[in-house]
Amino acid sequence: MVKIAPSILSADFSKLATEIKSVENDVDYIHVDVMDGHFVPNITIGPLIVEAIRPVTNLPLDVHLMIENPEDYVPQFAKAGADIISVHAEACPHLHRVIQQISNEGVKPGVVINPATPVSTIEPILQDVDLVLVMTVNPGFGGQSFIDSTLSKIEQLSELKKQYGFDYEIEVDGGVKAETAKACVDAGAEVLVAGSAIFNQEDRQAAIQTIKASYEQ
Ligand code: DX5
Ligand code: ZN
Repeated sequence: MVKIAPSILSADFSKLATEIKSVENDVDYIHVDVMDGHFVPNITIGPLIVEAIRPVTNLPLDVHLMIENPEDYVPQFAKAGADIISVHAEACPHLHRVIQQISNEGVKPGVVINPATPVSTIEPILQDVDLVLVMTVNPGFGGQSFIDSTLSKIEQLSELKKQYGFDYEIEVDGGVKAETAKACVDAGAEVLVAGSAIFNQEDRQAAIQTIKASYEQ
């Protein structure tokens, strides 16, 4: 079963609780995009918001850190109630140490790669993570177009998982909508993050069903 993770980046921040409630049925994670204005050219959410939305839903909070020096903030996001914390390989010269730090906080660790970063960069860490997030756009903003060349990386991660019996989930993020979801699922994606394709639609339940219908046949 493919999982859906609505990204609240495209939600109305003046009423986040209501927005989360509007997508809660039939989805699996709530995806939270944390940006620092350094690693990516945008500033969004910090631990205070994660703490504020934690009691709103029972769904796991899938926290995607697009920040420099993530090791300085992992404890705060863990304390705020994150269930999964993913860090960018490009932001972590000591990636193994940060992944261990996340695990030691009792949170599931994930690793993220940008469109231009090859899978080989993260091969040594694949046995230690619960999630591998393949960026299918350049991180920083919602509503961008899907980059097709990322599909082969999803396939590679799917192959490696089978070959070595790894148990990470393969997640994709960026430009995921009814037109692109099937290619991701066919390549081996197991969790689909979708921001604008869900929150920019008035009927969120219909939007979620449209994405699911695109690959469930
Ligand atoms: C992009 C973020 C995504 C973003 C996706 O930097 O990591 O999670 O919210 O937005 P859409 O689905 O609109 O491309
Ligand atoms: Zn994201």
